[in-house]
Amino acid sequence: MGLSEKVALITGSARGIGKAIALELANHGANIVINDILVENEINKTLEEIKQSTNKAIGIRADITKLDEVESMVKEIINKFGKIDVLINNAGITRDSLLIRMKEGDWDTVINVNLKGTFNCSKTVAKYMMREKKGGKIVNISSVIGLIGNIGQANYAASKAGIIGLTKSMAKELALRNINVNAIAPGFIETDMTKKLPEKVRQELQQQIPLKRLGIVEDVAKAVYFLVSDASNYITGQVINVDGGMVM
Ligand SMILES: NC(=O)c1ccc[n+]([C@@H]2O[C@H](COP(=O)([O-])OP(=O)(O)OC[C@H]3O[C@@H](n4cnc5c(N)ncnc54)[C@H](O)[C@@H]3O)[C@@H](O)[C@H]2O)c1
Repeated sequence: MGLSEKVALITGSARGIGKAIALELANHGANIVINDILVENEINKTLEEIKQSTNKAIGIRADITKLDEVESMVKEIINKFGKIDVLINNAGITRDSLLIRMKEGDWDTVINVNLKGTFNCSKTVAKYMMREKKGGKIVNISSVIGLIGNIGQANYAASKAGIIGLTKSMAKELALRNINVNAIAPGFIETDMTKKLPEKVRQELQQQIPLKRLGIVEDVAKAVYFLVSDASNYITGQVINVDGGMVM
């Protein structure tokens, strides 16, 4: 299988897109680390599902905004599996409101989780990958909103645009060590995050998408698989939109 014996950490993977990525990579033979901030119970439920595809999976509860928790998580992974080959920075949140009403706390929280969390995990894992000299793959989950902006999402758009700059800088710094770093910018995907959309907004959105549907989590997961497989060995520093043609 394509990812046989590779060890992959997917942040925020107890549900949604992260969980689909974990399942996809497990189906291709990877050993999986489910990370989330949710209670152990939720993480364990997902773990049970993943274990139907691979018996080499563990769950680690950690808050990616806290560098010490991220460092302990990576230590635990190395102790358990002896290595880490793949990092998927997926955990992300929204706290929407118009700019002039946006609370300072909502700005800080979104930037902290989406951008600083990606920095914390990337820095910790890249340090390990560089020391081991065996290369690696890092995929950051951005959003088309980071490319085009959105009313009510100044904090989210800034965090996701920041992830694109971070991705390109990391790609340049880590290329000599054979570590590929790319980003995926999903469009509107059916998850808990988009469930809140009113039906009218959903219909209007669909009309603006050339492929005339919202994406499903598997659409994103399959693109992630491509970016962590050998099929993409000569691709780094890129942003791939998975959005039904919404942004082009
Ligand atoms: N759903 C979409 O339409 C869409 C579109 C573009 C981009 N994205 C991005 O895809 C990623 C996944 O989104 P989703 O729709 O599956 O969301 P989701 O809310 O279903 O899942 C996100 C997960 O991240 C976890 N998380 C939040 N804060 C965390 C922290 N501090 N530490 C560890 N884990 C944390 C949550 O508990 C949750 O399980 C996010 O980065 C999101 O911005 C989603």
